[in-house]
Amino acid sequence: MFYLTTAIDYTNGSPHIGHAYEKVLADVIIRYRRLRGDEAFFLTGVDQHGQKVQQTAEKEGVHPATFVKRTTKKFLNLWDKLGVKYDGWAETIDDRHKTCVQGILTALKDQGQLYKHAHSGHYSVRQEQFLQDRDRDEAGNFGPEWGEVVQIEEENWYFKLSEHTDWLKSYLDATPDAVLPAFRKSELLNALERNSGTDLCISRPKERLRWGIEIPFDTDFVTYVWFDALINYVSFAGYRAAPDAELPDFEKLWTADERPVHIIGKDILVPAHGIYWLCMLHAMGFPDELIPRLLVHGWWNMRGEKMSKSLGNIVDPAELADKFGVEALRYYLVRDIVTGKDSDFDVERLIMLYNTELANELGNLCNRALNMSQRFTEGIITRGGIFTDADLALQTSLAESTDAYRAAMDEFDVSKGLEALGRHVGHCNQYAERMKPWELNKDPEMKARLATVLQHLAESVAHCAVLLSPILPDAAAKLAAQLNLPSLTEISLSDLHWGLIPEGHTIGKPKPVFPKILVEEKV
Ligand code: MSP
Repeated sequence: MFYLTTAIDYTNGSPHIGHAYEKVLADVIIRYRRLRGDEAFFLTGVDQHGQKVQQTAEKEGVHPATFVKRTTKKFLNLWDKLGVKYDGWAETIDDRHKTCVQGILTALKDQGQLYKHAHSGHYSVRQEQFLQDRDRDEAGNFGPEWGEVVQIEEENWYFKLSEHTDWLKSYLDATPDAVLPAFRKSELLNALERNSGTDLCISRPKERLRWGIEIPFDTDFVTYVWFDALINYVSFAGYRAAPDAELPDFEKLWTADERPVHIIGKDILVPAHGIYWLCMLHAMGFPDELIPRLLVHGWWNMRGEKMSKSLGNIVDPAELADKFGVEALRYYLVRDIVTGKDSDFDVERLIMLYNTELANELGNLCNRALNMSQRFTEGIITRGGIFTDADLALQTSLAESTDAYRAAMDEFDVSKGLEALGRHVGHCNQYAERMKPWELNKDPEMKARLATVLQHLAESVAHCAVLLSPILPDAAAKLAAQLNLPSLTEISLSDLHWGLIPEGHTIGKPKPVFPKILVEEKV
Protein backbone atom coordinates (compact mmCIF):
# COMPACT_ATOMS: atom_id res chain seq x y z
CA MET A 1 0.00 0.00 0.00
CA PHE A 2 1.24 3.48 -0.86
CA TYR A 3 0.29 5.87 1.94
CA LEU A 4 0.65 9.53 1.05
CA THR A 5 -0.06 12.54 3.25
CA THR A 6 0.39 16.28 2.99
CA ALA A 7 0.95 18.84 5.69
CA ILE A 8 -2.31 19.79 7.38
CA ASP A 9 -3.12 23.45 6.76
CA TYR A 10 -3.52 26.04 9.46
CA THR A 11 -7.12 27.12 9.83
CA ASN A 12 -6.35 30.61 11.10
CA GLY A 13 -6.77 31.94 7.57
CA SER A 14 -7.91 31.09 4.07
CA PRO A 15 -6.29 28.66 1.65
CA HIS A 16 -3.81 30.23 -0.75
CA ILE A 17 -1.88 29.12 -3.78
CA GLY A 18 0.83 27.39 -1.70
CA HIS A 19 -1.75 25.18 0.00
CA ALA A 20 -3.36 24.46 -3.36
CA TYR A 21 -0.06 23.49 -4.95
CA GLU A 22 0.77 20.96 -2.25
CA LYS A 23 -2.63 19.30 -2.38
CA VAL A 24 -2.76 19.20 -6.19
CA LEU A 25 0.75 17.73 -6.25
CA ALA A 26 -0.34 15.01 -3.81
CA ASP A 27 -3.51 14.37 -5.79
CA VAL A 28 -1.49 13.99 -9.01
CA ILE A 29 0.94 11.59 -7.34
CA ILE A 30 -1.83 9.46 -5.87
CA ARG A 31 -3.73 9.30 -9.16
CA TYR A 32 -0.51 8.34 -10.91
CA ARG A 33 0.11 5.55 -8.40
CA ARG A 34 -3.39 4.20 -8.98
CA LEU A 35 -2.78 4.37 -12.72
CA ARG A 36 0.39 2.35 -12.09
CA GLY A 37 -1.87 -0.23 -10.48
CA ASP A 38 -0.78 0.40 -6.89
CA GLU A 39 -3.13 0.40 -3.95
CA ALA A 40 -2.94 3.88 -2.52
CA PHE A 41 -4.36 5.99 0.31
CA PHE A 42 -4.23 9.79 0.47
CA LEU A 43 -4.72 11.68 3.72
CA THR A 44 -4.92 15.43 4.01
CA GLY A 45 -6.69 17.80 6.34
CA VAL A 46 -6.47 20.79 8.61
CA ASP A 47 -4.55 21.88 11.69
CA GLN A 48 -7.12 23.44 13.99
CA HIS A 49 -5.48 24.03 17.37
CA GLY A 50 -2.92 26.49 18.67
CA GLN A 51 -2.39 30.04 19.71
CA LYS A 52 -2.86 31.59 16.26
CA VAL A 53 -6.32 30.10 15.92
CA GLN A 54 -7.21 31.14 19.47
CA GLN A 55 -6.03 34.69 18.79
CA THR A 56 -7.81 35.07 15.44
CA ALA A 57 -11.03 33.62 16.87
CA GLU A 58 -10.80 36.04 19.82
CA LYS A 59 -10.35 38.96 17.42
CA GLU A 60 -13.44 37.90 15.55
CA GLY A 61 -15.35 37.43 18.80
CA VAL A 62 -16.24 33.77 18.23
CA HIS A 63 -15.36 30.51 19.98
CA PRO A 64 -12.35 28.82 18.37
CA ALA A 65 -14.50 25.76 17.59
CA THR A 66 -16.98 27.90 15.61
CA PHE A 67 -14.12 29.72 13.93
CA VAL A 68 -12.27 26.57 12.79
CA LYS A 69 -15.46 25.00 11.49
CA ARG A 70 -15.93 28.04 9.29
CA THR A 71 -12.37 28.16 7.97
CA THR A 72 -12.20 24.38 7.53
CA LYS A 73 -15.12 24.68 5.11
CA LYS A 74 -13.06 26.95 2.88
CA PHE A 75 -10.41 24.24 2.54
CA LEU A 76 -12.98 21.51 1.94
CA ASN A 77 -14.69 23.61 -0.75
CA LEU A 78 -11.41 24.35 -2.46
CA TRP A 79 -10.32 20.70 -2.65
CA ASP A 80 -13.70 19.84 -4.03
CA LYS A 81 -13.42 22.56 -6.66
CA LEU A 82 -9.87 21.56 -7.66
CA GLY A 83 -10.66 17.86 -7.91
CA VAL A 84 -8.34 16.96 -5.03
CA LYS A 85 -9.68 13.54 -4.01
CA TYR A 86 -8.48 12.33 -0.64
CA ASP A 87 -9.32 9.05 1.07
CA GLY A 88 -8.95 10.33 4.61
CA TRP A 89 -9.61 13.77 6.08
CA ALA A 90 -7.75 14.89 9.18
CA GLU A 91 -9.18 17.47 11.56
CA THR A 92 -7.23 17.82 14.75
CA ILE A 93 -10.34 18.63 16.82
CA ASP A 94 -11.64 15.14 16.01
CA ASP A 95 -12.09 13.09 19.20
CA ARG A 96 -10.38 10.08 17.64
CA HIS A 97 -7.26 12.15 17.06
CA LYS A 98 -7.44 13.57 20.57
CA THR A 99 -7.61 10.06 22.05
CA CYS A 100 -4.61 9.00 19.99
CA VAL A 101 -2.52 12.04 21.01
CA GLN A 102 -3.36 11.47 24.67
CA GLY A 103 -2.57 7.76 24.37
CA ILE A 104 0.83 8.54 22.88
CA LEU A 105 1.56 11.14 25.58
CA THR A 106 0.70 8.66 28.33
CA ALA A 107 2.78 5.90 26.74
CA LEU A 108 5.78 8.23 26.34
CA LYS A 109 5.47 9.37 29.94
CA ASP A 110 5.31 5.77 31.14
CA GLN A 111 8.50 5.05 29.21
CA GLY A 112 10.26 7.98 30.92
CA GLN A 113 10.38 10.04 27.72
CA LEU A 114 8.60 13.06 29.23
CA TYR A 115 9.53 15.23 32.22
CA LYS A 116 8.31 18.44 33.83
CA HIS A 117 10.65 21.39 34.13
CA ALA A 118 10.54 25.15 34.85
CA HIS A 119 12.07 27.22 32.11
CA SER A 120 12.69 30.91 31.88
CA GLY A 121 13.48 32.47 28.54
CA HIS A 122 12.45 34.29 25.41
CA TYR A 123 9.22 33.16 23.82
CA SER A 124 8.00 33.88 20.29
CA VAL A 125 4.26 34.49 20.31
CA ARG A 126 4.01 34.05 16.56
CA GLN A 127 5.93 30.78 16.36
CA GLU A 128 4.57 29.59 19.71
CA GLN A 129 7.95 28.44 20.97
CA PHE A 130 10.75 29.32 23.35
CA LEU A 131 13.77 30.73 21.55
CA GLN A 132 17.40 29.80 21.97
CA ASP A 133 20.51 31.90 21.46
CA ARG A 134 21.03 30.22 18.12
CA ASP A 135 17.76 31.82 16.95
CA ARG A 136 19.28 35.30 17.25
CA ASP A 137 20.51 37.03 14.11
CA GLU A 138 24.08 38.25 13.55
CA ALA A 139 23.36 41.43 15.49
CA GLY A 140 22.21 39.34 18.46
CA ASN A 141 18.50 40.14 18.03
CA PHE A 142 15.52 37.92 17.37
CA GLY A 143 14.60 38.73 13.78
CA PRO A 144 11.16 39.73 12.46
CA GLU A 145 10.35 36.11 11.55
CA TRP A 146 9.74 35.48 15.28
CA GLY A 147 7.19 38.32 15.61
CA GLU A 148 6.64 39.56 19.17
CA VAL A 149 9.21 38.05 21.58
CA VAL A 150 8.47 38.13 25.31
CA GLN A 151 10.40 37.02 28.40
CA ILE A 152 8.50 34.38 30.38
CA GLU A 153 9.11 31.75 33.03
CA GLU A 154 6.91 28.71 33.21
CA GLU A 155 6.72 25.06 34.05
CA ASN A 156 6.08 22.72 31.17
CA TRP A 157 6.33 19.18 29.96
CA TYR A 158 9.35 18.22 27.85
CA PHE A 159 10.03 15.37 25.46
CA LYS A 160 13.58 13.93 25.62
CA LEU A 161 14.32 14.80 22.02
CA SER A 162 18.06 14.92 22.71
CA GLU A 163 18.06 11.17 23.43
CA HIS A 164 17.10 10.50 19.82
CA THR A 165 19.27 12.85 17.78
CA ASP A 166 22.23 10.44 17.50
CA TRP A 167 19.83 7.84 16.16
CA LEU A 168 18.39 10.42 13.75
CA LYS A 169 21.83 11.24 12.34
CA SER A 170 22.65 7.60 11.75
CA TYR A 171 19.20 6.93 10.26
CA LEU A 172 19.59 9.84 7.84
CA ASP A 173 23.10 8.75 6.88
CA ALA A 174 21.97 5.20 6.22
CA THR A 175 18.75 5.98 4.34
CA PRO A 176 19.17 7.55 0.89
CA ASP A 177 15.48 8.33 0.40
CA ALA A 178 14.79 9.58 3.95
CA VAL A 179 14.42 13.12 2.61
CA LEU A 180 13.74 13.97 -1.02
CA PRO A 181 15.19 15.77 -2.94
CA ALA A 182 18.66 14.96 -1.60
CA PHE A 183 19.82 18.56 -1.08
CA ARG A 184 17.11 18.98 1.54
CA LYS A 185 18.68 16.13 3.54
CA SER A 186 21.92 18.10 3.71
CA GLU A 187 19.99 21.07 5.09
CA LEU A 188 18.48 18.83 7.73
CA LEU A 189 21.83 17.31 8.70
CA ASN A 190 23.34 20.79 9.03
CA ALA A 191 20.46 21.89 11.24
CA LEU A 192 20.88 18.79 13.35
CA GLU A 193 24.49 19.70 14.05
CA ARG A 194 23.24 22.95 15.60
CA ASN A 195 20.21 21.43 17.32
CA SER A 196 21.34 18.37 19.25
CA GLY A 197 21.31 18.69 22.98
CA THR A 198 17.95 20.42 23.48
CA ASP A 199 14.69 18.80 24.43
CA LEU A 200 11.27 19.74 23.09
CA CYS A 201 8.70 21.60 25.15
CA ILE A 202 5.43 19.84 24.37
CA SER A 203 2.91 21.57 26.61
CA ARG A 204 1.42 25.02 27.13
CA PRO A 205 -0.15 26.14 30.42
CA LYS A 206 -3.88 26.65 30.09
CA GLU A 207 -3.63 30.23 31.42
CA ARG A 208 -1.84 31.06 28.19
CA LEU A 209 -3.52 28.70 25.76
CA ARG A 210 -6.78 26.82 26.22
CA TRP A 211 -7.35 25.79 22.62
CA GLY A 212 -5.53 22.48 22.47
CA ILE A 213 -5.55 18.84 23.54
CA GLU A 214 -5.36 18.49 27.30
CA ILE A 215 -2.32 16.70 28.72
CA PRO A 216 -4.06 13.63 30.17
CA PHE A 217 -1.88 13.36 33.29
CA ASP A 218 -1.63 17.10 34.06
CA THR A 219 -4.86 18.86 33.21
CA ASP A 220 -3.55 22.41 33.74
CA PHE A 221 -1.78 22.02 30.41
CA VAL A 222 -2.62 21.52 26.75
CA THR A 223 -0.41 19.89 24.10
CA TYR A 224 1.92 22.04 21.98
CA VAL A 225 0.26 22.45 18.60
CA TRP A 226 3.06 20.86 16.55
CA PHE A 227 3.21 17.77 18.77
CA ASP A 228 -0.54 17.43 18.31
CA ALA A 229 -0.57 18.17 14.57
CA LEU A 230 2.27 15.82 13.58
CA ILE A 231 0.43 12.92 15.16
CA ASN A 232 -2.35 13.31 12.56
CA TYR A 233 -0.29 11.21 10.15
CA VAL A 234 -0.68 8.19 12.41
CA SER A 235 -3.94 8.94 14.24
CA PHE A 236 -5.99 9.17 11.02
CA ALA A 237 -4.19 6.12 9.70
CA GLY A 238 -5.74 4.10 12.54
CA TYR A 239 -2.77 3.98 14.95
CA ARG A 240 -3.98 2.94 18.42
CA ALA A 241 -7.55 3.35 17.17
CA ALA A 242 -10.58 1.70 18.73
CA PRO A 243 -11.98 -1.09 16.52
CA ASP A 244 -15.17 0.91 15.87
CA ALA A 245 -13.36 4.17 15.08
CA GLU A 246 -13.99 3.90 11.33
CA LEU A 247 -10.36 4.51 10.54
CA PRO A 248 -8.07 2.49 8.24
CA ASP A 249 -6.21 -0.60 9.39
CA PHE A 250 -2.88 0.88 10.45
CA GLU A 251 -0.87 -2.28 9.74
CA LYS A 252 -2.08 -2.30 6.16
CA LEU A 253 -1.47 1.37 5.55
CA TRP A 254 1.85 1.96 7.24
CA THR A 255 4.13 -0.68 5.79
CA ALA A 256 7.80 -1.31 5.21
CA ASP A 257 7.28 -2.53 1.60
CA GLU A 258 6.50 1.01 0.57
CA ARG A 259 7.31 3.44 3.38
CA PRO A 260 4.74 6.25 3.76
CA VAL A 261 5.50 9.56 2.06
CA HIS A 262 4.79 12.89 3.75
CA ILE A 263 4.65 15.84 1.37
CA ILE A 264 5.67 19.04 3.12
CA GLY A 265 6.95 22.51 2.25
CA LYS A 266 10.59 23.43 2.83
CA ASP A 267 9.67 25.68 5.78
CA ILE A 268 8.45 22.82 7.92
CA LEU A 269 11.27 20.35 7.37
CA VAL A 270 13.47 21.84 10.10
CA PRO A 271 12.77 21.35 12.90
CA ALA A 272 9.15 20.11 12.84
CA HIS A 273 9.19 17.11 10.50
CA GLY A 274 12.88 16.40 10.03
CA ILE A 275 13.72 16.50 13.74
CA TYR A 276 10.67 16.47 16.04
CA TRP A 277 8.49 14.06 14.10
CA LEU A 278 11.13 11.51 13.19
CA CYS A 279 12.38 11.49 16.79
CA MET A 280 8.82 11.20 18.10
CA LEU A 281 8.24 8.15 15.92
CA HIS A 282 11.52 6.64 17.07
CA ALA A 283 10.54 7.21 20.70
CA MET A 284 7.15 5.63 19.97
CA GLY A 285 9.02 2.49 18.92
CA PHE A 286 8.86 2.75 15.14
CA PRO A 287 11.73 0.78 13.59
CA ASP A 288 13.83 2.44 10.86
CA GLU A 289 12.03 0.59 8.08
CA LEU A 290 8.77 2.21 9.20
CA ILE A 291 10.07 5.77 9.32
CA PRO A 292 8.27 7.79 6.61
CA ARG A 293 9.99 9.48 3.69
CA LEU A 294 9.76 13.26 3.55
CA LEU A 295 9.12 14.75 0.13
CA VAL A 296 9.97 18.42 0.49
CA HIS A 297 8.64 20.90 -2.04
CA GLY A 298 9.70 24.48 -2.61
CA TRP A 299 7.64 27.62 -2.36
CA TRP A 300 5.59 29.67 -4.71
CA ASN A 301 6.73 33.27 -4.37
CA MET A 302 5.54 36.52 -5.88
CA ARG A 303 8.27 38.29 -7.84
CA GLY A 304 10.87 36.69 -5.62
CA GLU A 305 9.06 37.69 -2.42
CA LYS A 306 7.27 35.48 0.04
CA MET A 307 3.47 35.57 -0.27
CA SER A 308 2.00 36.95 2.89
CA LYS A 309 -1.12 38.60 4.19
CA SER A 310 0.91 41.61 5.34
CA LEU A 311 2.42 42.15 1.87
CA GLY A 312 -1.07 41.78 0.39
CA ASN A 313 0.21 39.53 -2.39
CA ILE A 314 -1.76 36.38 -1.60
CA VAL A 315 -3.26 34.64 -4.61
CA ASP A 316 -6.68 33.05 -4.14
CA PRO A 317 -6.75 29.68 -5.94
CA ALA A 318 -10.56 29.55 -6.09
CA GLU A 319 -10.64 32.86 -7.92
CA LEU A 320 -8.04 31.65 -10.42
CA ALA A 321 -9.92 28.41 -11.01
CA ASP A 322 -13.12 30.38 -11.68
CA LYS A 323 -11.35 32.68 -14.06
CA PHE A 324 -9.16 30.28 -16.03
CA GLY A 325 -10.62 26.87 -15.27
CA VAL A 326 -9.53 24.13 -12.91
CA GLU A 327 -7.51 22.35 -15.58
CA ALA A 328 -5.44 25.44 -16.38
CA LEU A 329 -4.69 25.98 -12.70
CA ARG A 330 -3.85 22.34 -11.93
CA TYR A 331 -1.59 22.21 -14.98
CA TYR A 332 0.24 25.40 -14.10
CA LEU A 333 0.77 24.43 -10.46
CA VAL A 334 2.60 21.22 -11.25
CA ARG A 335 4.15 22.29 -14.56
CA ASP A 336 5.89 25.52 -13.67
CA ILE A 337 7.73 24.29 -10.58
CA VAL A 338 10.30 21.55 -10.25
CA THR A 339 9.41 19.50 -7.18
CA GLY A 340 11.79 20.68 -4.49
CA LYS A 341 12.61 24.07 -5.95
CA ASP A 342 10.91 27.46 -5.61
CA SER A 343 9.02 29.21 -8.38
CA ASP A 344 7.50 32.60 -9.03
CA PHE A 345 3.76 32.68 -9.39
CA ASP A 346 2.84 34.55 -12.55
CA VAL A 347 -0.60 34.65 -14.13
CA GLU A 348 0.94 35.55 -17.49
CA ARG A 349 2.85 32.27 -17.39
CA LEU A 350 -0.26 30.34 -16.39
CA ILE A 351 -2.01 31.68 -19.50
CA MET A 352 1.04 31.21 -21.70
CA LEU A 353 1.69 27.60 -20.63
CA TYR A 354 -1.95 26.64 -20.97
CA ASN A 355 -2.33 28.30 -24.35
CA THR A 356 0.89 26.92 -25.84
CA GLU A 357 1.21 23.45 -24.32
CA LEU A 358 -2.46 22.55 -23.92
CA ALA A 359 -4.59 24.66 -26.28
CA ASN A 360 -2.09 24.85 -29.16
CA GLU A 361 -0.05 21.67 -28.92
CA LEU A 362 -2.15 18.97 -27.29
CA GLY A 363 -5.53 20.52 -28.14
CA ASN A 364 -4.50 20.90 -31.75
CA LEU A 365 -3.32 17.28 -31.95
CA CYS A 366 -6.56 15.96 -30.44
CA ASN A 367 -8.80 18.08 -32.64
CA ARG A 368 -7.04 17.36 -35.89
CA ALA A 369 -6.66 13.63 -35.16
CA LEU A 370 -10.31 13.13 -34.27
CA ASN A 371 -11.63 15.55 -36.86
CA MET A 372 -9.79 14.00 -39.76
CA SER A 373 -10.80 10.48 -38.72
CA GLN A 374 -14.42 11.64 -38.64
CA ARG A 375 -14.21 13.35 -41.99
CA PHE A 376 -12.04 10.88 -43.90
CA THR A 377 -12.85 7.43 -42.44
CA GLU A 378 -16.20 8.03 -40.69
CA GLY A 379 -14.44 7.74 -37.37
CA ILE A 380 -13.35 4.16 -37.99
CA ILE A 381 -9.77 3.39 -37.00
CA THR A 382 -7.99 0.66 -38.93
CA ARG A 383 -4.36 -0.27 -39.28
CA GLY A 384 -4.38 0.49 -43.01
CA GLY A 385 -1.44 -1.67 -43.85
CA ILE A 386 1.09 0.66 -45.48
CA PHE A 387 3.82 1.55 -43.00
CA THR A 388 6.85 3.84 -43.31
CA ASP A 389 9.83 4.75 -41.16
CA ALA A 390 7.93 7.83 -40.00
CA ASP A 391 5.39 5.55 -38.31
CA LEU A 392 8.10 3.61 -36.61
CA ALA A 393 9.70 6.84 -35.44
CA LEU A 394 6.36 7.95 -33.99
CA GLN A 395 5.98 4.66 -32.13
CA THR A 396 9.53 4.98 -30.81
CA SER A 397 8.83 8.56 -29.69
CA LEU A 398 5.75 7.39 -27.81
CA ALA A 399 7.63 4.54 -26.12
CA GLU A 400 10.49 6.84 -25.12
CA SER A 401 8.19 9.57 -23.86
CA THR A 402 6.17 7.08 -21.86
CA ASP A 403 9.32 5.66 -20.27
CA ALA A 404 10.62 9.14 -19.44
CA TYR A 405 7.19 10.12 -18.06
CA ARG A 406 7.13 7.04 -15.83
CA ALA A 407 10.66 7.57 -14.58
CA ALA A 408 9.92 11.20 -13.71
CA MET A 409 6.57 10.47 -12.07
CA ASP A 410 8.11 7.62 -10.06
CA GLU A 411 10.46 10.26 -8.66
CA PHE A 412 7.56 12.64 -7.98
CA ASP A 413 8.82 15.04 -10.65
CA VAL A 414 5.55 15.95 -12.37
CA SER A 415 6.94 18.84 -14.39
CA LYS A 416 9.52 16.54 -15.99
CA GLY A 417 6.80 13.95 -16.65
CA LEU A 418 4.72 16.56 -18.46
CA GLU A 419 7.74 17.67 -20.44
CA ALA A 420 8.20 14.10 -21.64
CA LEU A 421 4.56 13.92 -22.69
CA GLY A 422 4.90 17.25 -24.48
CA ARG A 423 7.80 15.88 -26.52
CA HIS A 424 5.58 13.20 -27.97
CA VAL A 425 2.75 15.65 -28.64
CA GLY A 426 5.22 17.83 -30.55
CA HIS A 427 6.42 14.80 -32.50
CA CYS A 428 2.84 13.93 -33.47
CA ASN A 429 2.05 17.44 -34.69
CA GLN A 430 5.17 17.40 -36.87
CA TYR A 431 4.24 13.94 -38.13
CA ALA A 432 0.80 15.23 -39.14
CA GLU A 433 2.41 18.17 -40.94
CA ARG A 434 4.75 15.88 -42.84
CA MET A 435 2.26 13.09 -43.62
CA LYS A 436 -0.46 15.54 -44.68
CA PRO A 437 -3.47 13.25 -44.25
CA TRP A 438 -5.63 15.95 -45.92
CA GLU A 439 -3.57 15.45 -49.11
CA LEU A 440 -3.63 11.64 -48.79
CA ASN A 441 -7.41 11.85 -48.60
CA LYS A 442 -7.56 13.39 -52.05
CA ASP A 443 -5.97 10.31 -53.62
CA PRO A 444 -8.14 7.14 -53.63
CA GLU A 445 -4.96 5.05 -54.07
CA MET A 446 -3.67 6.31 -50.72
CA LYS A 447 -6.61 5.09 -48.60
CA ALA A 448 -4.52 2.45 -46.83
CA ARG A 449 -1.72 4.92 -46.09
CA LEU A 450 -4.26 7.47 -44.84
CA ALA A 451 -5.76 4.91 -42.45
CA THR A 452 -2.30 4.14 -41.03
CA VAL A 453 -1.50 7.80 -40.43
CA LEU A 454 -4.85 8.46 -38.75
CA GLN A 455 -4.46 5.37 -36.63
CA HIS A 456 -1.06 6.60 -35.43
CA LEU A 457 -2.51 9.96 -34.47
CA ALA A 458 -5.59 8.50 -32.73
CA GLU A 459 -3.46 5.96 -30.90
CA SER A 460 -1.20 8.74 -29.66
CA VAL A 461 -4.16 10.78 -28.42
CA ALA A 462 -5.42 7.74 -26.53
CA HIS A 463 -2.05 7.26 -24.82
CA CYS A 464 -1.83 10.97 -24.02
CA ALA A 465 -5.29 10.89 -22.42
CA VAL A 466 -4.21 8.03 -20.15
CA LEU A 467 -0.87 9.61 -19.21
CA LEU A 468 -2.43 12.99 -18.63
CA SER A 469 -5.22 11.62 -16.42
CA PRO A 470 -3.41 12.04 -13.07
CA ILE A 471 -2.77 15.70 -13.81
CA LEU A 472 -5.96 16.69 -15.65
CA PRO A 473 -8.53 14.03 -14.79
CA ASP A 474 -11.50 15.89 -16.30
CA ALA A 475 -9.86 16.75 -19.59
CA ALA A 476 -8.48 13.21 -19.89
CA ALA A 477 -11.93 11.72 -19.25
CA LYS A 478 -13.40 13.95 -21.95
CA LEU A 479 -10.75 12.86 -24.42
CA ALA A 480 -11.29 9.21 -23.56
CA ALA A 481 -15.04 9.66 -24.05
CA GLN A 482 -14.52 11.29 -27.44
CA LEU A 483 -12.32 8.33 -28.42
CA ASN A 484 -15.00 5.94 -27.12
CA LEU A 485 -12.39 4.36 -24.86
CA PRO A 486 -13.43 2.52 -21.70
CA SER A 487 -13.47 4.64 -18.55
CA LEU A 488 -9.94 5.72 -17.71
CA THR A 489 -10.23 4.19 -14.26
CA GLU A 490 -10.26 0.81 -15.99
CA ILE A 491 -6.98 1.44 -17.82
CA SER A 492 -3.66 1.02 -16.05
CA LEU A 493 -0.14 1.86 -17.16
CA SER A 494 0.54 -1.77 -17.93
CA ASP A 495 -2.27 -1.70 -20.52
CA LEU A 496 -0.42 0.98 -22.42
CA HIS A 497 0.84 -1.01 -25.37
CA TRP A 498 0.62 0.03 -29.01
CA GLY A 499 -2.87 -0.96 -30.17
CA LEU A 500 -4.86 0.54 -27.31
CA ILE A 501 -7.50 1.41 -29.89
CA PRO A 502 -8.71 -1.91 -31.30
CA GLU A 503 -8.83 -2.57 -35.04
CA GLY A 504 -12.12 -1.33 -36.53
CA HIS A 505 -12.96 0.77 -33.45
CA THR A 506 -15.20 3.79 -34.06
CA ILE A 507 -14.26 7.01 -32.33
CA GLY A 508 -16.71 9.77 -31.41
CA LYS A 509 -17.05 13.38 -32.47
CA PRO A 510 -14.34 15.80 -31.38
CA LYS A 511 -15.15 18.70 -29.14
CA PRO A 512 -12.32 21.04 -28.09
CA VAL A 513 -11.16 20.15 -24.59
CA PHE A 514 -8.67 22.99 -24.18
CA PRO A 515 -10.34 26.20 -25.37
CA LYS A 516 -7.79 28.99 -25.59
CA ILE A 517 -7.70 31.53 -22.76
CA LEU A 518 -8.22 34.96 -24.26
CA VAL A 519 -5.52 37.30 -23.07
CA GLU A 520 -8.04 40.08 -22.32
CA GLU A 521 -9.34 37.84 -19.53
CA LYS A 522 -6.18 38.07 -17.48
CA VAL A 523 -6.39 39.39 -13.91
N1 MSP B 1 -0.08 23.46 10.10
C1 MSP B 1 1.29 23.40 9.71
C2 MSP B 1 1.63 22.01 9.19
C3 MSP B 1 1.40 20.90 10.16
S1 MSP B 1 1.76 19.36 9.45
C4 MSP B 1 1.70 18.31 10.73
C5 MSP B 1 1.55 24.41 8.58
N2 MSP B 1 0.47 24.90 7.97
S2 MSP B 1 0.52 26.00 6.80
O1 MSP B 1 -0.86 26.26 6.46
O2 MSP B 1 1.33 27.12 7.16
O3 MSP B 1 1.24 25.32 5.59
C6 MSP B 1 0.72 24.13 5.05
C7 MSP B 1 1.60 23.65 3.91
O4 MSP B 1 1.55 24.62 2.86
C8 MSP B 1 3.07 23.51 4.31
O5 MSP B 1 3.63 22.35 3.76
C9 MSP B 1 3.71 24.73 3.70
O6 MSP B 1 5.05 24.54 3.35
C10 MSP B 1 2.86 24.90 2.46
N3 MSP B 1 2.95 26.27 1.96
C11 MSP B 1 2.57 27.41 2.60
N4 MSP B 1 2.89 28.47 1.80
C12 MSP B 1 3.47 28.04 0.65
C13 MSP B 1 3.88 28.63 -0.54
N5 MSP B 1 3.86 29.93 -0.73
N6 MSP B 1 4.29 27.80 -1.54
C14 MSP B 1 4.25 26.44 -1.42
N7 MSP B 1 3.85 25.84 -0.32
C15 MSP B 1 3.60 26.61 0.79
O7 MSP B 1 2.71 24.68 8.30
